[in-house]
Amino acid sequence: MQRRSVLKLGSLGLMSGFFTSSLLGANTKNLIGFEQIAISTDDDFKVAKGYSAKVLVKWSDPIFSHAKKFDESKNIDDDYVKNANFVFGDNADGQKYFAINGSKEGLLVTNNEYVNPELMFNHNGKNMSANDIKYQQNSLGVTILNIKRDGSNFYKYKIYSKYNRRINANTPILITGEAKGDDALKTATDPKGELVFGTLNNCGCGKTPWGTYLTCEENFDDFFGSKDSKFMPSKRFERYGIKAKGGVYAWHLFDDRFDIKATPNEANRFGWVVEIDPFDPKSMPKKRTSLGRFKHENCEVVVDKFDNVVAYSGDDENNEFVYKFIAKNKFDRTNLKANLDILEFGTLYVAKFEGEFGEFKGRLKWIELTFGKNGLTKENGFISQADILIRAREAASFVGATPMDRCEWISKDPNSEFLYATFTNNKVRQEVDAANPRAKNKYGQILKWAPKNGDHANGDFAWEIFILAGNPKIKDGLYKGSNNINLNNMFNSPDGLAFDKDGRLWIATDGSYSNTGDYEDMGNNQLLCADPYSGEVKRFATGPRACELTGIAFSDDYKTMFISVQHPGEELKGSHWPEGGSHTPKSAVVMITKDDGGIIGA
Ligand code: FEO
Ligand code: CA
Ligand code: CA
Ligand code: CA
Repeated sequence: MQRRSVLKLGSLGLMSGFFTSSLLGANTKNLIGFEQIAISTDDDFKVAKGYSAKVLVKWSDPIFSHAKKFDESKNIDDDYVKNANFVFGDNADGQKYFAINGSKEGLLVTNNEYVNPELMFNHNGKNMSANDIKYQQNSLGVTILNIKRDGSNFYKYKIYSKYNRRINANTPILITGEAKGDDALKTATDPKGELVFGTLNNCGCGKTPWGTYLTCEENFDDFFGSKDSKFMPSKRFERYGIKAKGGVYAWHLFDDRFDIKATPNEANRFGWVVEIDPFDPKSMPKKRTSLGRFKHENCEVVVDKFDNVVAYSGDDENNEFVYKFIAKNKFDRTNLKANLDILEFGTLYVAKFEGEFGEFKGRLKWIELTFGKNGLTKENGFISQADILIRAREAASFVGATPMDRCEWISKDPNSEFLYATFTNNKVRQEVDAANPRAKNKYGQILKWAPKNGDHANGDFAWEIFILAGNPKIKDGLYKGSNNINLNNMFNSPDGLAFDKDGRLWIATDGSYSNTGDYEDMGNNQLLCADPYSGEVKRFATGPRACELTGIAFSDDYKTMFISVQHPGEELKGSHWPEGGSHTPKSAVVMITKDDGGIIGA
């Protein structure tokens, strides 16, 4: 079996007969025009020759005129807690550019996923106070920034702009869709189950064809716990990782909203995709419950040629699933505003990846998660559609979805009907299958799938592995990776993923940066570029110490790339990036431009 698998890996990255038509018209020549760079273990952001990189904005930078600068003494008084609402949030993650005037001026909407107490506080998170909790709550969420080109392809952000906005853990957000008003979403402060405060753990994102931003709630369980550490959470909470013990944030010790015993339904109000209209600073964000509740990585919206609006989203947890949502209404091409609430209602499906082990490809079936179908009935413990959406993981397990190796970002190839998706790793996998072929998978893989005839709602889907990451220096068999991985381009834990308009596939990593053992010669986390047709992979940039690279985004002319450098120096691993000296390391958005003013990557 092992031998056969290795042989068949030779064909990875090439299209099978099923997809021959999708190859036509694709320009595969010289897609990647830069010279690959070496790995790095330095505390620096490095990019390929002929390119330059610059920080646009970092955690704590004032985005309103009255805001105060970062206080290196970290004295978290009342004023400083409030100030966190007027500065760029922590842990920059997914982001998208929204044009106001083409690429000259626009809005950059960036997720601020979480906070690092070990870097944020003098006590390194070991002695939290009520003020510290409020400070954290104000430091995460989403930041909307009005940015303008400075005469080059770099941008500066405006401090005086009506668009600049912070959305945090206390911003009022509407609950919409099929689960709105459900009993499991009601709390004492919101007896109707229609309004929630805040969005949490905003990881990946999406940009809709109607001009809104989707922010995806991922590891929300980290923010919940109970003062009663012996309290036993229900099975439905366990499935989402919610424990009475709580995590490092300690919000439950000071804020009853995050105590699962005191406010038992609050945790049901997180784990959703949230839609934001960045051009209307007064608009209330909306949680789109019909897309299901899980640890959403990102949300890739596709409008197919039949005007189906389809949203793909993965659940980033070991052995969880991949989902797709089909909106009830068809896309309105003549009036984009008519689509503003199109994600409110529709049908949710979960993926079953079929195939023979060792083939690295197969059929992809989508199983409907609708009350009354596929055994999702009262007899089997599901009481309504809202119940199925709130407990999407349990429903997906019940119908026999394929447990995956932690789905991260999903992105559509502009030249074909393929969606590509990163599966970062799954160190606890025991049983292997066609789509997840390695036990104790430390390296991750990239899969792709597409529907025949381009019908993302009803088409017959097939899938294939595009890249198996691995370490060919020290491993054999499947752990050395697919044939397009070599000693010079190897990496682990692909996470951020985005196509540019020409069809280059950009891959950011969030993996081990130990550079030893299984990860020897992989260095710091990195940004790579792949040609989806030839399978070629080259390293484009490397991040500073103990960071993750994520949030790949582009200006409309693709001459500026934005990338988030998240948590440099996490766990006190000795980074001082980007300011150097003895400064606290800070997550930041970096811009990359080509020195000759050209398209990034060309
Ligand atoms: Fe927030 Fe799965 O990364
Ligand atoms: Ca991620
Ligand atoms: Ca990750
Ligand atoms: Ca992250």
